[in-house]
Amino acid sequence: MDYTVCVLPGDGIGPDITDQAVKVLHAVGQKFGHGFTFTEHMIGGGAIDAAGHPLPQETIDACTKADAVLLGAVGGPKWDDVQHKLRPEQGLLGIRKALGLFANLRPAVIYPELAQASYLRPDIVRQGIDLMVLRELTGGIYFGRPQGVRTHEGQRVGINSMVYSEEEIRRIGRMAFEIAGKRRGRLCSVDKANVLDVSRLWREVIAELARDYPQVELSHMYVDNAAMQLVRDPSQFDVIVTGNMFGDILSDEAATITGSIGLLPSASLGQSRPGLFEPVHGSAPDLAGQDAANPLATILSAAMLCTYGLGLETEGRAVEDAVHAVLGRGHRTADLATDRSEIVGCSRMGDLVCDQLLGQG
Ligand code: IPM
Ligand code: MG
Repeated sequence: MDYTVCVLPGDGIGPDITDQAVKVLHAVGQKFGHGFTFTEHMIGGGAIDAAGHPLPQETIDACTKADAVLLGAVGGPKWDDVQHKLRPEQGLLGIRKALGLFANLRPAVIYPELAQASYLRPDIVRQGIDLMVLRELTGGIYFGRPQGVRTHEGQRVGINSMVYSEEEIRRIGRMAFEIAGKRRGRLCSVDKANVLDVSRLWREVIAELARDYPQVELSHMYVDNAAMQLVRDPSQFDVIVTGNMFGDILSDEAATITGSIGLLPSASLGQSRPGLFEPVHGSAPDLAGQDAANPLATILSAAMLCTYGLGLETEGRAVEDAVHAVLGRGHRTADLATDRSEIVGCSRMGDLVCDQLLGQG
């Protein structure tokens, strides 16, 4: 089959890491007989500088036409001034909204080869970490109205609103049950139903859905407790489903306890194609253009692009296996290395994964 992938390198290390993932997708094409066509478009700070907007219309159009979107990272100190009307992050939020990507899948996995990188005690790590945070991505407090800063009775008041309709909860809930059903069959829904009305509705709708999925074991947890349980015993979790802001926070927490955020991919999916695939980490501007970034989270995002974006599960697994094999042989980018002798650059890491995939490793 032939597929078109729209690549949005973005800012900082974005171009370094998407280059490697593109290389790996070419290797996938070669190995499995697919044709990949790549088109490249602007997003984020670079797009503000070049086109006056973090998400130019032609980028939206190109993404809409593609079979999948691969994104590097956006943002950097140059655009960080809060006085700026336009921020790189608006590009990211805008493309999620424009493509209707309501579901964000963020797996947090600890690789046995990298267990010592975890911030947790060895006895906790030994229980294993293999969980998926499913974050609602186009609703909640990020988008709810009213929002803004206004003057009320002589002082400034900032407002954001956490809003979820039952249909928004139902569609992310359904996806959560489906994913849990394909994994270890455990779903934990995270909310703040002891305080927030919107969370009470969230809990009710998720509980109603549970009747359609008897094979999945559902539990509910308050977000503060979930934050605590994630460091106390992450092995208790299989799939966590939660709203936009709770998911933003918990997915960073889940990612960072593994100690190797440079390895963690994500997928954002809507009702139909195209999905968007990006690493969980940011744009690391200090490393940009130095061939020093870790491309593996983006390469693993390309694996998710195959599996979840194009329905190519064998291909996705082959990429993941290749990454495991390369790490198993002791190759590390600087962020993960414990010994200077094992360090390889960004581009070399991409080549190693390609070679492994093509059986020349
Ligand atoms: C993320 C990021 C974004 C978010 C920012 C950059 C807008 O933190 O993808 O988790 O909050 O969604
Ligand atoms: Mg975040």
